[in-house]
Amino acid sequence: MAVLGLGYVGCVTAACLAEIGHRVVGVDRDAFKVDCVRAGRAPFFEASLEEMVAENVASGRLSASVSLAEGLADADIALVCVGTPSQRNGNLGLDQLRRVAGEIGALVPGRNRPLVVAVRSTVYPGTCEEVVLPAMNGSPLVAVVSNPEFLREGAAVRDFMQPSLLVVGGTDPAAVERVASLYRALPVKPCLVALRTAELIKYACNAFHAVKIAFANEVGTLAGELGIDGREVMETLCRDTSLNISPAYLKPGFAFGGSCLPKDLRALAYRASRLDLKLPLLESVLPSNQTHLERAIRLALELPGRRLGIFGLAFKENTDDLRESPVVQLLEALIGKGRRVRVYDPHIHLGEIYGSNQQYLLNAIPHIGSLLDENLETMLEGADHVLVAQKPAADMRTRLESSGKPLVDLVGAFGAAQATVCAESQVM
Ligand SMILES: NC(=O)c1ccc[n+]([C@@H]2O[C@H](COP(=O)([O-])OP(=O)(O)OC[C@H]3O[C@@H](n4cnc5c(N)ncnc54)[C@H](O)[C@@H]3O)[C@@H](O)[C@H]2O)c1
Repeated sequence: MAVLGLGYVGCVTAACLAEIGHRVVGVDRDAFKVDCVRAGRAPFFEASLEEMVAENVASGRLSASVSLAEGLADADIALVCVGTPSQRNGNLGLDQLRRVAGEIGALVPGRNRPLVVAVRSTVYPGTCEEVVLPAMNGSPLVAVVSNPEFLREGAAVRDFMQPSLLVVGGTDPAAVERVASLYRALPVKPCLVALRTAELIKYACNAFHAVKIAFANEVGTLAGELGIDGREVMETLCRDTSLNISPAYLKPGFAFGGSCLPKDLRALAYRASRLDLKLPLLESVLPSNQTHLERAIRLALELPGRRLGIFGLAFKENTDDLRESPVVQLLEALIGKGRRVRVYDPHIHLGEIYGSNQQYLLNAIPHIGSLLDENLETMLEGADHVLVAQKPAADMRTRLESSGKPLVDLVGAFGAAQATVCAESQVM
């Protein structure tokens, strides 16, 4: 196989793939990097890399060339590891990728064997299809897949050998399997996904890491101002592997609400401002949530039918707590825009809620009593579309699905088949 680009990612990829038994040719336009590898040296410092390059060059499994034609001559896979640096405006620079894709494309007519082009560089979703694939001039011999790299500089060899994640995405299952099989010797189960999904996963991972760091730093800063040990706070937070360090809350769905999260975020932001502390990440969470809610409102307003049903009124399933429920805001907005709305929530019966809960609802929507249906079927009867604003229990789910009414899944309860607030264009 050929590894195109012998920078941080490419050189580690080439050396590690050779280490696990593959025959690899590393290709770079930069003759210095090629000469380094040929001489059994790493072109930059990365722990254990130099030894690995030396051993694999000596064993004949790893070689290097400045010639792409030479690199691809015996290869059935080309792993593209060229740089995608930031442009001035923040956009991704695709010059290196365009160039290398063009160079591969120019060699394709002279080939009589298949080639899988696997893009390991970090590229925006759609790049493989819109930039790399067209450069292959429609050759049936070439398949393009995305195989993003997750290694961290400083621990790159270890990260490669003990991958945190292995993602391969593409439309040609054989090509996807072929690339995944390169890593068979490593202790990781490949995630085989769609092409654009693979491209986006890399961005989602890096954004998540950045958000984690910024979050820990903001909590640590606030702790420091309050004379509290921020490390102890974060270490204890991490002890909760059920709600904190876990998949909980990490699925795209509807806006959050309820009597705790909005209130506590507001209090944190207010107290921080009293300390003259800026906590931009924490301060941005409620505005982000509001924007997400507004997307749902827009989605509902764009529906062709004017008679809307809403399933769920409380801020989440299995509760009758209406305080700061985003559905109440959704409902207000829809009524304000002249929609005829019916609402059903299995746990809300007006006669049974009281105190601050009832007060909140009656303040927001004084005539809620005339909108609430006591059973699902009555709500469904009066609706052209149903907004699912709460995860339905199994029996409710079946009744919603079998109603035949178009469902707009705001909470991600039904999978990709239904329209969701996270995929506005998919309205049924
Ligand atoms: N550095 C990291 O820690 C890391 C981790 C994961 C993913 N990534 C992503 O991997 C990609 C590569 O990153 P990097 O840090 O290795 O970049 P880099 O700049 O260190 O290396 C890129 C190499 O590609 C070579 N190159 C460019 N055009 C070429 C061509 N036409 N033919 C042959 N070689 C060519 C360059 O000479 C250079 O040596 C980027 O998209 C980056 O975002 C980087």
